Amino acid sequence: MSKKIISPGGNVSGAVQLPGDKSISHRYAILAALAEGPSDISNYATAADCRSTLECLRRLGIEVDATRERVRVTGKGLDGLKPPRKPLDAENSGSTIRMLAGVLAGQPFTSTLTGDSSLRRRPMRRVAEPLRQMGAEIRGEDGDRAPLEIRGGKLHAIEYSTPIPSAQVKSAVLFAGLFAEGVTSVREAVRTRDHSEIALREFGANLDASNGSIRIHPRPKLKPRQLTVPGDLSAAVFMIGAALVLPGSVLMLHDVGLNPTRARVLDFLISMGASINIASVQMRDGELVGDVSVRHGSLSGGRLSGAQVAETIDELPMLAALGPFTEKGIEIRDAQELRVKESDRIATIAEGLRRMGARVEEFPDGLRVEGREAGAKLHGAKIDPQGDHRIAMALAVAALGADGETTILDAGCAAVSYPEFFETLDRLRGGAA
Ligand code: S3P
Repeated sequence: MSKKIISPGGNVSGAVQLPGDKSISHRYAILAALAEGPSDISNYATAADCRSTLECLRRLGIEVDATRERVRVTGKGLDGLKPPRKPLDAENSGSTIRMLAGVLAGQPFTSTLTGDSSLRRRPMRRVAEPLRQMGAEIRGEDGDRAPLEIRGGKLHAIEYSTPIPSAQVKSAVLFAGLFAEGVTSVREAVRTRDHSEIALREFGANLDASNGSIRIHPRPKLKPRQLTVPGDLSAAVFMIGAALVLPGSVLMLHDVGLNPTRARVLDFLISMGASINIASVQMRDGELVGDVSVRHGSLSGGRLSGAQVAETIDELPMLAALGPFTEKGIEIRDAQELRVKESDRIATIAEGLRRMGARVEEFPDGLRVEGREAGAKLHGAKIDPQGDHRIAMALAVAALGADGETTILDAGCAAVSYPEFFETLDRLRGGAA
């Protein structure tokens, strides 16, 4: 899909089955590859990013068999990976490159990890540094950018305090810790998603968390598992956003991941007055899942900052794009990490919203998007999401409430995390584009 034209109006109603969670899918695939025998993963993410992880694992000699129902990854134990003949291509996926860097740091061979032009611009020192401290040799381009050449080997445990909140960095160090001599620990000043900790335990690793630090014991025998990935809350948020923009909308989203380190976005929307209900909550494979229903209603506006930012990091583009549909607007601060995502998300969302007529003030660490009280009203525009999936989807949702048509250029980039996004949106609108 090169471009998508969005006509405003109508409503979204019905039931939505979400693709599997992107973050959890990466972790299940990687740990399954290190387990001893075949693991079956149901509802594995359809996201292109998670296909990149599977492709890298194949190139490391792991058998991966994907059907519609499940992905079977036949692990060969901690010592079963083979040196890849070519560089491993993580494409657009930061999680793939950073988490695999942790695993490759522990291998007795040299490998290279690379990615597309967006990924090659993103900072990798944050993973290279702790992995070097553990004993790996890592060479990157200017300022430690991909391609990263990783000469793995004998690692020793470190006690690492993450200088920036990043679940990818935490996971890389924990995964490297599987291969290190001694007990590796990671301490986070700000809590980030804990899917790696949960998945490591599910696969049988020896991990304990106390006094704010996570400790991983080396060389466990990881056991293969049958796991079902919860629906992706970060994808669900775009559908929830559509329901909040379009009057008359009522949506039911089934089997959504509600891990408390991810679900802050729902608390924030509820605090603004959104009518969101959660039901049938259960714990499955260590992760909370449940059904989320949402009904259109007015939103007051709000501010996100500090520790809330790490817990809503992937939802911030959608929240910013809801700003013009709130009374008092939305302000996001302490979110400088957004500048080093798939695009500079502060700049791309601000630019897109301004093109649609929103009043946006940009700060080094965030932005403020004015609401209805300040006269906010969007009109259709031509939007270039800069190849960033979450920007394309957030602005497509805002376009539903604009006057006139919006064209989203390069809309196919949504497939990086949610290939079914536009199709699902059309279906929920009763076929309207
Ligand atoms: C992710 C962590 C976050 C998030 C990304 C997925 C993960 O990145 O933005 O989409 O799966 O661990 P950082 O670790 O860079 O914050």
